[in-house]
Amino acid sequence: MKKIGILTSGGDAPGMNAAIRAVVRAGIYNGLEVVGIKRGYEGLINGDIEKMNLSSVADIIHKGGTILRSARCLEFQEEKGFKKALNVMEIFGIDGLVVIGGDGSLRGAEALSKAGIPTIGLPGTIDNDLAYTEYTIGFMTAVGTVVNAISNLRDTSASHDRINIIEVMGRHCGDIALYAGIAGGAESIVIPEVPLSIDEICKRLIQSRNRGKRHSIIMLAEGVVESSYEFKNQIDERAGVETRLTILGHLQRGGSPTVFDRVLASRLGETAVKLLIEGKGSRAVGMSKGEICDLDISEALLIKKEINTELYELAKVLSI
Ligand code: F6P
Repeated sequence: MKKIGILTSGGDAPGMNAAIRAVVRAGIYNGLEVVGIKRGYEGLINGDIEKMNLSSVADIIHKGGTILRSARCLEFQEEKGFKKALNVMEIFGIDGLVVIGGDGSLRGAEALSKAGIPTIGLPGTIDNDLAYTEYTIGFMTAVGTVVNAISNLRDTSASHDRINIIEVMGRHCGDIALYAGIAGGAESIVIPEVPLSIDEICKRLIQSRNRGKRHSIIMLAEGVVESSYEFKNQIDERAGVETRLTILGHLQRGGSPTVFDRVLASRLGETAVKLLIEGKGSRAVGMSKGEICDLDISEALLIKKEINTELYELAKVLSI
């Protein structure tokens, strides 16, 4: 192993830069040459690759986004594009690869591993939807951003005796809504993993109003309903209230990473380099019981993400 490549792919996440920095610095520290591949698998197909040195990753640990930029590349999923990528790796003499991204990106890493390229996958997504790891890079930062938004909305919600609905990201995973809902003291958490009818939500709202609560926060994970606007209208109609809807959208994806994400990303990045040096490819690196772990990438991707029922129940108890 002489030369390794690094790329970030899929939706960006705060902390990706810290991971890039860790891979580049740990690689150089251990005598490797490190190259950065731009815009994920797209750069791998097009040979958009440049040598990284110690200063290429200076002053980035605190920055959101990814200096390598990112993309969702459909071409890589086709045979022609995939072969092109393998060819580019050969031309550039890249012996091993570190891929930072979510589920789709790690599936790309798995395919490269199967094609004989030692590849390590690092979990980089705000969604926290990779079951093999307790936390993904960017998740805690996104939750912090959402909690700040909840605090602001709570102020105005209290002033106007209003119900505020906040739609958060997470695609098919309710972790952002769940963690932010607990940390922000939301009254209702609506996530894809736990079916909850509009009637049940309205019942809870009416009950809490009867108990004297004058304002409430409803966390709504994207993907639960087709339209959050329609969801809002139905709550208004059936509970006889006037709600306000805020869709936080992509602002959850940016911002300076938290300490947790910076440390996690640094640890994962260094481990990825160590694994490649030890001759181990086809691994997914993550966190288990607070420790850094690595497992076979195919096995890792087969694990089904489940909701933390203990946390969900806690949220219910505390939002009474
Ligand atoms: O996977 C990360 C994520 O932010 C999801 O939470 C969201 O559904 C999706 O990406 C948005 O993707 P895009 O940036 O392509 O709009």
